[in-house]
Amino acid sequence: MSTLANTPTVTVMGATGLTGGKIARRLLAAGARVRAIGRNPDKLAALERAGAQILAGDGLDPAFLARAFGGADAVYTLLATDRQAPDYAARQHEEGQAIAEGLRASGARRVVALSSLGADQAEGTGVIAGLHAQEERLKQIAGIHLLLLRPVSFFENFYDALGQIREAGLMADTVAPDIAVPMIAAEDIAEVAAQALLARDWSGVAVRELLGQRDLSHNEVARILGERIGKPALAYVQLSEADMAGVLVGAGLSPSFAGLYIEMTRAFNEGRVGPRQGRNAANTTPTRFEDFADELAAAYAAM
Ligand SMILES: NC(=O)c1ccc[n+]([C@@H]2O[C@H](COP(=O)([O-])OP(=O)(O)OC[C@H]3O[C@@H](n4cnc5c(N)ncnc54)[C@H](OP(=O)(O)O)[C@@H]3O)[C@@H](O)[C@H]2O)c1
Repeated sequence: MSTLANTPTVTVMGATGLTGGKIARRLLAAGARVRAIGRNPDKLAALERAGAQILAGDGLDPAFLARAFGGADAVYTLLATDRQAPDYAARQHEEGQAIAEGLRASGARRVVALSSLGADQAEGTGVIAGLHAQEERLKQIAGIHLLLLRPVSFFENFYDALGQIREAGLMADTVAPDIAVPMIAAEDIAEVAAQALLARDWSGVAVRELLGQRDLSHNEVARILGERIGKPALAYVQLSEADMAGVLVGAGLSPSFAGLYIEMTRAFNEGRVGPRQGRNAANTTPTRFEDFADELAAAYAAM
C-alpha cells in the first residue's frame, strides 16, 4: 500500500527507550504513521494510546524485524544491547546482524541509525567498537540511504549517579575529572532523528555528529548537579579501573560490559573519542546541562 508523501510510515526501534520513545512521540505529533517496536506490549501501551501501531517482538529475530520494517518510508534503528549480557560484544554483534538481515529482507530504503562519536574507529573504544561494526554492516546493504547519528555521553547517564550520590555523597567514574566531553540530552538526539525521518532528504551514507550544547567535564557536572540538589560541595572522584569494574559488577552489570565500559572511558581519557568535524552550528544542539539538571534533581528528591 502506498503512503501519502505527507504521512510517512516510520518504524521506530527501541520505542520504549530513551531516544526511540522521544522520536516516536515527535513523529506522531507531526502526523506520521508510527510503528513502535519493543519487547513488552504493556510498556508500549502509552504509545498505542498516542496513536502508534505497536509491534511487540524480539529485536534478535530478523523475520520479526523484516515485517516491522517492510513498507516503511523510513526506519530508526539502534542496538538495544543488554548490559547484563555475559558477552556484551557478542550480543551487539547478534543484534546488529538481525537488524541488517531484517533491513535487507524488508526492502526498506531509508534508515536513521543511532551510533556514537568514536564509531569511526574499529577497536580500542570498548562498547563503541560494536557501533563501528554496526555502521559497517549497515553500509554494506545495497541501495539504502543511511544516516548515522553520532552523539556521545547522554545527560541521562547521570541518572545512574543518583544512587551513588545518595549513598556515598559523591560521584565516581573512571573518566578524568577535567576532560571535557560533548554531552547531550536524548531530547536533542530525538529532535534531529525525527526531523531526518520526516524529511528523508539525504542520499547515500551520511554521518551527523551531535555534540550537545557544549563540552562538559565531570567536575563541571558535579558542580552544576550539586548546586541543584542542595549539595554545593558535591565532588567527582576518578576511580581506578579496577575499582570501577567492581562498582559496575556490584551493580549487576556483566564483567564483559564492565570491561568494555572501562575501555571506552580510557579512550575518552586518551582523547581518542571526539568529533571529526569540529564544533559548529549544525552539530551543536540546544539543551544545556543546567536545564536537564532540574530533571535529575527531581528524580533525586523523589528517591
Ligand atoms: N548512553 C549514551 O551515552 C550513549 C551514547 C552514544 C550511543 N549510545 C547508544 O545508544 C543505544 C541505546 O539507545 P537508547 O538509550 O535510546 O535505548 P535504551 O533507553 O537503552 O532502550 C533500549 C530500547 O530497546 C528495547 N529493547 C531492548 N532489548 C530488546 C530486544 N531484544 N528486542 C526488542 N527491543 C528491545 C527496549 O524496550 P523494552 O525493554 O521495552 O523491550 C528499549 O525500548 C546503544 O546502542 C548505545 O550504545 C548511548
